[in-house]
Amino acid sequence: MRGAAGADLAAGKVRGETILSVNHLVKHYPITQGVLLKRQVGAVKAVDGVSFELRRGETLGVVGESGCGKSTLARLLMRLETPTAGRASLEGRDLFKASGAELRRLRRNMQMVMQDPYTSLNPRMTVGDIIGEPFEIHPDAAPRGSRRQRVQELLDLVGLNPEHINRYPHQFSGGQRQRIGIARALALRPEIIVCDEPVSALDVSIQAQVINLLEKLQNEFGLSYIFIAHDLSVVRHISDRVAVMYLGKIVEIGTEQEIYERATHPYTQALLSAVPVPDPGARENRNIIRLHGDVPSPADPPSGCRFRTRCWKAQEICANKEPHTVLRAADPHPSACHFAEVRPSAA
Ligand SMILES: Nc1ncnc2c1ncn2[C@@H]1O[C@H](COP(=O)(O)OP(=O)(O)OP(=O)(O)O)[C@@H](O)[C@H]1O
Ligand code: SF4
Ligand SMILES: [Mg+2]
Repeated sequence: MRGAAGADLAAGKVRGETILSVNHLVKHYPITQGVLLKRQVGAVKAVDGVSFELRRGETLGVVGESGCGKSTLARLLMRLETPTAGRASLEGRDLFKASGAELRRLRRNMQMVMQDPYTSLNPRMTVGDIIGEPFEIHPDAAPRGSRRQRVQELLDLVGLNPEHINRYPHQFSGGQRQRIGIARALALRPEIIVCDEPVSALDVSIQAQVINLLEKLQNEFGLSYIFIAHDLSVVRHISDRVAVMYLGKIVEIGTEQEIYERATHPYTQALLSAVPVPDPGARENRNIIRLHGDVPSPADPPSGCRFRTRCWKAQEICANKEPHTVLRAADPHPSACHFAEVRPSAA
């Protein structure tokens, strides 16, 4: 949304209003034992009670270490997985109860860009067929006679040569393939795009180009993004708000300034302290928080606060009582920590 003041929204749509609302979303994958008679002996708690709102025209960054449930969250929202519990509503309609024509309409409105541009495109299809594939499912979006022209417009929109419509994915570089993935996501003119680590597989120089393209498209079409990354430095530039996930839960969520300048959760503070700093002076002076140990298994998360086994501030209460998101009067952005406070050096 930053800098998106010029974007045109369709009539009746208000920038900043809630477009997607997610409430206590849960996805547990059963762990079973036995060959003939499968018995459930546990569950991988991949997403375990996630709530947030996405506003029209904004980018919500979602950040956390590998295995914290980011892609599961994305797949749930895309209805590629069935939730164990929880609700989500897209423009006021229940995302998980929708079926038939209503589901097709909701699906059309929310598209996804995958992490890996090398494997997410079918190598045997031409770029034209890949980008035009959504029109097979939603023929009304582009009548058959106009599809080639629509695909060429989309290629142009993402900075690719429309004359390359008959080429195959292997004839493009990594960054160009990600542009193809973005063009495909745009084909049906969605309002929301879920980007699951869209730049993680790309060189740093190419990452910036793809992020700039996403911002340009957001300005042009008033898109809302959920932008997943495992690194806080990647999402800063593009995000209006950032949600930090740990072991299936959002531990802190706030505006770009609240998270990067006034983070109150120890996990966010640790991630921030590890963000690369270009200035050697600033690099020497900063106080890096080193997290010890691995992320615990989501099949057996710690009691109380899930971060307690790696938290330098942990006390007895952290093992006994789960911290719920606290809104403090001084800086009311939600942080799930019994001792949430701004780190003095970061204030
Ligand atoms: N189909 C599945 N069956 C069982 N467990 C699964 C399944 N999919 C994911 N998981 C587990 O759920 C947890 C969350 O996985 P997920 O892929 O959502 O994490 P992530 O945050 O996207 O990680 P990464 O940064 O590595 O992409 C992991 O422990 C993973 O092993
Ligand atoms: S609740 Fe306790 S263990 Fe959890 S982040 Fe806060 S201080 Fe650390
Ligand atoms: Mg993932």
